[in-house]
Amino acid sequence: MLPGGLVAGGGRLCLLRWLGLRLWSRRGTLLFALLWFGSWLFLNGLVLVHRSIMSDYCTDDKSKRILQRLCLEFREGSVTGDMCEDLCVLGLVEYKHCLYYENGKKVIEARWRGNPVILKSKLENFSSYEPLGILDYQDTAEELSPLDVVFYATLEVRNSLGLAEEEEEEGGGGGNNSSLARLWGKRLKYRDKSYSRAELASLWSLLQQEEYTFLRVLQDLSTHVAKVLGSCGHFYAVEYLSAGHAWDQNIFSLEDMAAPGPPGQDRAGARGRWTTREMVHRIALSFLDMIWHFDNDFTHKLHLCDIKPENFAIRKDLTVVAIDVDMAFFEPKMRDILDQNCSSDDDCNFFDCSSRCNLSRRRCSPRRRNSNLQVICEKIFRPWFSPTLLGAKAGLPLQVELQRAVQECSETDGEGGDIHQRLLSILTRLLQEGGASGEGGGAWEEKGHAHTALNF
Ligand SMILES: *[C@@H]1O[C@H](CO)[C@@H](O)[C@H](O)[C@H]1NC(C)=O
Ligand SMILES: *[C@@H]1O[C@H](CO)[C@@H](O)[C@H](O)[C@H]1NC(C)=O
Ligand SMILES: *[C@@H]1O[C@H](CO)[C@@H](O)[C@H](O)[C@H]1NC(C)=O
Ligand SMILES: *[C@@H]1O[C@H](CO)[C@@H](O)[C@H](O)[C@H]1NC(C)=O
Ligand SMILES: *[C@@H]1O[C@H](CO)[C@@H](O)[C@H](O)[C@H]1NC(C)=O
Repeated sequence: MLPGGLVAGGGRLCLLRWLGLRLWSRRGTLLFALLWFGSWLFLNGLVLVHRSIMSDYCTDDKSKRILQRLCLEFREGSVTGDMCEDLCVLGLVEYKHCLYYENGKKVIEARWRGNPVILKSKLENFSSYEPLGILDYQDTAEELSPLDVVFYATLEVRNSLGLAEEEEEEGGGGGNNSSLARLWGKRLKYRDKSYSRAELASLWSLLQQEEYTFLRVLQDLSTHVAKVLGSCGHFYAVEYLSAGHAWDQNIFSLEDMAAPGPPGQDRAGARGRWTTREMVHRIALSFLDMIWHFDNDFTHKLHLCDIKPENFAIRKDLTVVAIDVDMAFFEPKMRDILDQNCSSDDDCNFFDCSSRCNLSRRRCSPRRRNSNLQVICEKIFRPWFSPTLLGAKAGLPLQVELQRAVQECSETDGEGGDIHQRLLSILTRLLQEGGASGEGGGAWEEKGHAHTALNF
């Protein structure tokens, strides 16, 4: 018994020593894995703590109370807006849930007359906004003519968007040749009735929110920004669109897009339906269209400095929409931001917008070096059209051409008018080819579906 056990024990010892050696040689790897696991746990913990703090504030209770306060102010007559009656009297705005709350910024999902909308305000309380100064000096707002209002509002808009007055006047800020700020003023000017105190106060609270001002100014000029549907007091409603996400290969959830045929119809039967590949190409074309418009439609170029899937969404017709515009700047403001002291080019990066360091002046060039197109190619198109994800399709000549063009585009600084044209032409041909052969998305489509199945 004993000897046998000893032998067996010796064998085990051998085995243990052998394992130990193996472990020794792998110690570095093991240590690394442990560290990695440790930091993973730590980060997860942080996220969890952060979430629970957030949810403390982003509760339904608190959100509803905020909206109740808003309605109270509406009934008192201190605020107004085209959404107020539906929200406070008719009950046509149905609260869904709180999406975000931080530092007073409030984002709520709701349904307005059956349509999903997002209600937003940078600050939860109306009283937290700066009042319009001149209201204090005048007994009634009646003396303020609509033209005065337009004047003050235009100043406020210019200020918020960083549009210098002189440039605005001579160049004409946007919409081909009329100034961006003035264009916005036109909507206000067409009324002879003077503004009530509540109207002015509400307008002012809205104008202090850069996002509102920005979206409002671009509403009629571009289809590529989220639509502002209405407002009440300091809250405004924008169309609800679900954002893209980095972890999905297709970026957007395509399943509920482009009105799929009746259920039960399989792929062969659903002729009216776009394949995933076709949809991706159409979305890519819409991205190109958006970039072209942002570069050329307004006399000041519009720079997108935070380009990532989460900041874009698509409508049902596959139009790409910029939904987070906190990091979008017109040229004058862009120049202000880039104009910094520097010791190397690395000091001249502002998120996705970068310029060069002029070493003799030790100052960054105010001119942006890269372009919206370059960053879109690098961060959106390259992952989309990478060979590994294309699978069997990757070898097709047109796909190879597309990959090359995208690669070149993501490495090309500056204007890139040619590369824009090339991408446009390749994508258009790909769409025509897809339509002609009618063979659907093939391997890629199935892969896409496997991924989008994760979207819940
Ligand atoms: C908003 O108003 C409520 C009630 O008046 C108050 O309790 C709350 O602290 C205010 N929030 C902020 C951010 O000022
Ligand atoms: C700008 O001009 C183009 C044609 O040059 C036209 O299609 C577009 O509607 C114009 N936009 C505005 C806002 O006037
Ligand atoms: C815009 O430009 C056209 C021609 O360049 C000119 O006729 C028109 O008056 C301009 N409009 C404004 C509002 O400046
Ligand atoms: C930038 O550099 C100038 C002199 O080169 C200096 O006077 C200025 O204070 C610097 N500004 C900042 C923000 O460091
Ligand atoms: C750097 O600034 C100086 C002085 O403004 C200018 O003469 C020079 O051309 C600039 N250099 C570059 C590379 O832009």
